[in-house]
Amino acid sequence: MGSISCAWASRALVLLTLISRVLGDAVNRTIDDSLGDSVTGQRPTYLPETPGVWEDETCGAGCFIQPDRSLAFDGTWTAATYKPSNGVGNVSLSFNFHGTAIYIFFILANNQPNATTKTECNFTLDGAVVGNYSHSPTSSLDLEYNVTVFSKTGLLNQDHTFQIGATGTDDVFINFDYAIYTFENDQDNSTPTRASSESSGTSDPSPLAGSSTSSESSGTSDPSPLAGSSTSSKQTTSTGAIVGGVVSGIVLSVTLVVFLLWRKRRRSQNTIAM
Ligand SMILES: *[C@@H]1O[C@H](CO)[C@@H](O)[C@H](O)[C@H]1NC(C)=O
Ligand SMILES: *[C@@H]1O[C@H](CO)[C@@H](O)[C@H](O)[C@H]1NC(C)=O
Ligand SMILES: *[C@@H]1O[C@H](CO)[C@@H](O)[C@H](O)[C@H]1NC(C)=O
Ligand SMILES: *[C@@H]1O[C@H](CO)[C@@H](O)[C@H](O)[C@H]1NC(C)=O
Ligand SMILES: *[C@@H]1O[C@H](CO)[C@@H](O)[C@H](O)[C@H]1NC(C)=O
Ligand SMILES: *[C@@H]1O[C@H](CO)[C@@H](O)[C@H](O)[C@H]1NC(C)=O
Repeated sequence: MGSISCAWASRALVLLTLISRVLGDAVNRTIDDSLGDSVTGQRPTYLPETPGVWEDETCGAGCFIQPDRSLAFDGTWTAATYKPSNGVGNVSLSFNFHGTAIYIFFILANNQPNATTKTECNFTLDGAVVGNYSHSPTSSLDLEYNVTVFSKTGLLNQDHTFQIGATGTDDVFINFDYAIYTFENDQDNSTPTRASSESSGTSDPSPLAGSSTSSESSGTSDPSPLAGSSTSSKQTTSTGAIVGGVVSGIVLSVTLVVFLLWRKRRRSQNTIAM
């Protein structure tokens, strides 16, 4: 009994190591408000383009809120004061990214003479509102930098659109400094259709699927636990052959092995407890 668990555990370990090598590590990339995506260079879009709505760090006396450039990411920011009464309409910024997680960073203002300093906005991912943020100014004169106002992980590894917008009835201040997204290598970069074929097996087309693992496994016919583990033992002996191949199969096998191990463990613990 114990020796079987041990063999399974070492098998799972070998597979996990193999998978992290094959998939490559997840890396964070940044999207600066002004300089854009650290890899593609793509810049966010700011609407409306009406002069004086969105202003950056080059704004002089016309901007009441003057952050410290040395404390801002890349020394830049882009900010707007949304005032429904001035008739320019909704304000928004948007950008695209390809990845599995997104983090948004603002600069917040507090007590600034004659300026709107309340920050409030809605976040829209792939066309659906996924959150909002609200900061009520304190009496402090200090600005706050690097504030994470939104984050979401567990996204499908594909293209996403993200929008930050203000549409309400209150005057609000939005200062976008930068975003971080987590980029993960697709198994094979030369075949970009792979990611979509993996997810096409699922009934849920939502880009917000809780985890890509669940959608991958639901799209694959479910092998019996025994078939799963015998496949995996073959795979460990022919590493080279599978590197280019069935990663989703491995993921499934490991998930199964780990699950079975866990269940087995729990069962034996239960038995001991009784
Ligand atoms: C990416 O950045 C976020 C926010 O700083 C952090 O929580 C996360 O661990 C980072 N992920 C990677 C893969 O570095
Ligand atoms: C905010 O983060 C950026 C990048 O990590 C850093 O350059 C900057 O100094 C930070 N600012 C503050 C106030 O922590
Ligand atoms: C704020 O507005 C008041 C009244 O309009 C004005 O007297 C004052 O100088 C302004 N303060 C700043 C810092 O602009
Ligand atoms: C903000 O999000 C919360 C849930 O996180 C929701 O309950 C609330 O209604 C939202 N507020 C607005 C103004 O959309
Ligand atoms: C966010 O969306 C809600 C629901 O549409 C809206 O009531 C609210 O005013 C929005 N907030 C901002 C700051 O645009
Ligand atoms: C502003 O946003 C609101 C809420 O999303 C929407 O109903 C309205 O049509 C928008 N106005 C314009 C001019 O786009």
